[in-house]
Amino acid sequence: MPGWNQRLTKSLHQAKSQPESRYFQLATLTEDLVPANRTVVFRYLDETDHSLVVVSDTRSAKWSELALQPKASVCWYFSKSREQFRFVVHGEGYTRETAPQLIDKQWSKLSDAGRKQYFWGLPGSARQSNAPLRVTQDMSQAPPHFCVLKLIIKSVDYLSLQGNPQYREKHWLDEAGQWVSQPLVP
Ligand SMILES: Cc1cc2nc3c(=O)[nH]c(=O)nc-3n(C[C@H](O)[C@H](O)[C@H](O)COP(=O)(O)O)c2cc1C
Repeated sequence: MPGWNQRLTKSLHQAKSQPESRYFQLATLTEDLVPANRTVVFRYLDETDHSLVVVSDTRSAKWSELALQPKASVCWYFSKSREQFRFVVHGEGYTRETAPQLIDKQWSKLSDAGRKQYFWGLPGSARQSNAPLRVTQDMSQAPPHFCVLKLIIKSVDYLSLQGNPQYREKHWLDEAGQWVSQPLVP
């Protein structure tokens, strides 16, 4: 297991009682080369390809931004253990068409409130009235725009604020595809 993976697993364990520690920021690049940042929910770490897995909507900007430029950044701060992980990732998107089992599994894990969000209408479009957004559709199956994003980790910049001095470490893949790491001046 790469060193960063051990650190992340430990941080997640220490933050088990803090639901907000499962949110991280995902930054993509817009067509106009402007960084676009937003918060998403961490679902799980896929140990087979070292990806952070997130669920989302193909109609949202992040989907098309990742299609244009799959390189993206994740920033994740664990307030209890005072650690920051910055990941450079390669984003891959999956839908019911390309990965039905993955989609069904992630859909089955969503609460009703989580599922409803996918039936409110086109994300980011103008609301026609102030009336509440009602959902009358059958929510048992994921709609076609429900997607899973796999953010495959390519490098990690880790910073711990626990000690004095702080501790910073870089992790990356060498030419043989092995994870290597190097402590850095914070
Ligand atoms: C705490 C929190 C968690 C969120 N989790 C997700 C998520 O898991 N997936 C998602 O697509 N959007 C999530 N959002 C909404 C996004 O931050 C964003 O507003 C939305 O996806 C539209 O982003 P985009 O147009 O840049 O793609 C979350 C927002 C917050 C505040």
